[in-house]
Amino acid sequence: MINEKQYINNLGKLLFKKSGLTINCIEETFNLKISNDQSKKITKNFDSFILESKRKNTGSFYTPDYIAKYMVSKALFEYFKNNTSLSDQRLASIFYSRKYKLNKNEKDIILNVFKDLTVADLSCGGGIFLINYIKLVKEILLVNNFDESRKFLKEISKNVHAYDINALAIKSLLLELNIYFEPKSREEIILINTHNLDVISSKNFDESIPESGYDIVIGNPPYLGEKGNKKLFNNIKKSRFGQRYYEGKMDLFYYFIYRGINVMNTSGVLIYLTTNYFITADGAKKLRNFLKDNGHFIEIINFNEYNIFEDARGQHNLIFTYRKNKDENTKMLLRTIEEKRVVNNFEAFINLIDSCTNKCFIDEEFLFNERNEIQLYINENHFSIIKKIKNQSDYQLMDFFNVNQGLVSGADRVSKYNYNKKLSQGCIDLYNINIGDPIYVMNKEKSTIFQEKNYVKHFYKNSDINKFSVNENTNKRILYIDQSVELDELLKSHLLPYKEILQERREVRTGSRKWFEIQWARDKNIFEQEKIVVPQRSRSNIFAYSSESFYGSADIYYITSKKLLLKFPLFALLGLLNSKLFYLYLSNIGKKKGNMLELYATPLKHLLIKKLNQEEAIIEVSKRLSKAFSNELFDKLNQLIYLDYHISDKEIDFIENFYNNRH
Ligand SMILES: C[S@@+](CC[C@H](N)C(=O)[O-])C[C@H]1O[C@@H](n2cnc3c(N)ncnc32)[C@H](O)[C@@H]1O
Repeated sequence: MINEKQYINNLGKLLFKKSGLTINCIEETFNLKISNDQSKKITKNFDSFILESKRKNTGSFYTPDYIAKYMVSKALFEYFKNNTSLSDQRLASIFYSRKYKLNKNEKDIILNVFKDLTVADLSCGGGIFLINYIKLVKEILLVNNFDESRKFLKEISKNVHAYDINALAIKSLLLELNIYFEPKSREEIILINTHNLDVISSKNFDESIPESGYDIVIGNPPYLGEKGNKKLFNNIKKSRFGQRYYEGKMDLFYYFIYRGINVMNTSGVLIYLTTNYFITADGAKKLRNFLKDNGHFIEIINFNEYNIFEDARGQHNLIFTYRKNKDENTKMLLRTIEEKRVVNNFEAFINLIDSCTNKCFIDEEFLFNERNEIQLYINENHFSIIKKIKNQSDYQLMDFFNVNQGLVSGADRVSKYNYNKKLSQGCIDLYNINIGDPIYVMNKEKSTIFQEKNYVKHFYKNSDINKFSVNENTNKRILYIDQSVELDELLKSHLLPYKEILQERREVRTGSRKWFEIQWARDKNIFEQEKIVVPQRSRSNIFAYSSESFYGSADIYYITSKKLLLKFPLFALLGLLNSKLFYLYLSNIGKKKGNMLELYATPLKHLLIKKLNQEEAIIEVSKRLSKAFSNELFDKLNQLIYLDYHISDKEIDFIENFYNNRH
């Protein structure tokens, strides 16, 4: 494996080989020392090199070439659309179909715009976007037999700005750019503006911006959550900019969005490739307000389970295009890519996006829901049905119900980690402790030693929850040790061997729990009273009625009635939440992680509901379904709910198909 410096050297040598330049000229221009060391072969480009060596600790995933090409084309399409008289059709054929042959008038218009176009990438890495931009201009010039193409390219490059905290990245970008253009003399070398600085915290950042601001800001900023990177965020917070936009649980790339929008001019376009969690994340509230107040989205493409980055499996991405000026009455386009197969080339990718049927034009006012989250409707049908639900609803679920999370013991069993890190060898030997030994959670047989102690509770997994009813037979038990429980001898002799683990839990260390208590007990009523239970993550809308004691972990949510005069019957809610209509609604909200529903407290609390006209009938069917599920009864329930919400036959067909296809 070569190191970064050797790699840059190799690029230098490659440029020397391909161009007519002397080695001195390259060394001087790019400030290199080209040595004659071992590594002769240049097999990897900078990005893939960095990818292997650096990615993990810098949050950097490098954009595949075909995606970068697409984003450059999209940004140019949007910019030209707003700033020239050329038709959408013509622009699409130029930028997406790459039909570069222009007539005289088009040539004048297009070159005129390119001449002054200012383009920036605030986290350029090896420069995949900027190189693709300059390549595209070169191809247009070539196809149209433009005489002074090199001079023109040098001219436009003066308006291209590359930022990165990593000096070698920028050097690599300059070299790669010139390897492609093969300058024959020093004068022909193409140089863009480079800014080797920390875009977030550097005091010099403002000075690097041209007076007119940027026309296009493009990029794939680094994704790094605050969790696990506290030091980095603490440093950022020390800068003025960092402090101004900070919010808890944010991601580093949010700062690049703020920066990007701030440095754009009002006719500008910003296009970013990011993860898609910010659309609903609690740590992106401020960011969403900023996006709402400072411009508008042109398009959001949600990639769902399409894997943009080969080595970031399980990551969910989106590409969004954004304009800075606040133009009311604009519609925006949402697309959700359902294809999972990676296409890997530009034409096929354009085709994938063009042929995507899950798309929807919406007024921007509908993009942000009642929680101020960005709601990515799957398509027009989803949008119009959800609009129908919204228009009829007078309440949110939290107006009638509490939503609580299950308990956290903080040490169900002896985990491998605790065994290796927390337990002393003396303790392991003394008590003969093994990985997997039960601490608070155990099976029924083991729990018999506690006999009739009333802190022993039946314990359930989220897989014990079915649609409408729970599986009441569980072999698991939990020692529900909350503040009210005294440490009796039996409990003491059971827990003492694990004290080294238990006393290390955060709440015990801070003094808010005694060492033998579970970490997060809840108000017992939540588990004991009549309620609806729901697994946080599931492939379907699974809500179950439970009137018996049902203790479960934090991956289960508990919906209980508030003590109010005006009531919403629990069984009416049960029917509604389990219905096919609500499956469609729930599929469009909350975190976007493929087709999984993520039903945690916030989206549940804010669900829009209405007093049902068919309440009695719905309650009756729901009660029967909770005793014994049958497809016939379930159909009946759905019909009642369609009727209640005035869902048309065509819409019913759509909802039924959507539900059946995903079940
Ligand atoms: C995800 S990589 C993207 C690189 C390139 N744009 C691409 O898509 O292939 C992010 C880049 O941001 C740079 N970076 C990280 N923190 C930065 C900061 N505070 N200021 C400027 N650049 C930064 C890293 O060095 C890295 O090259």
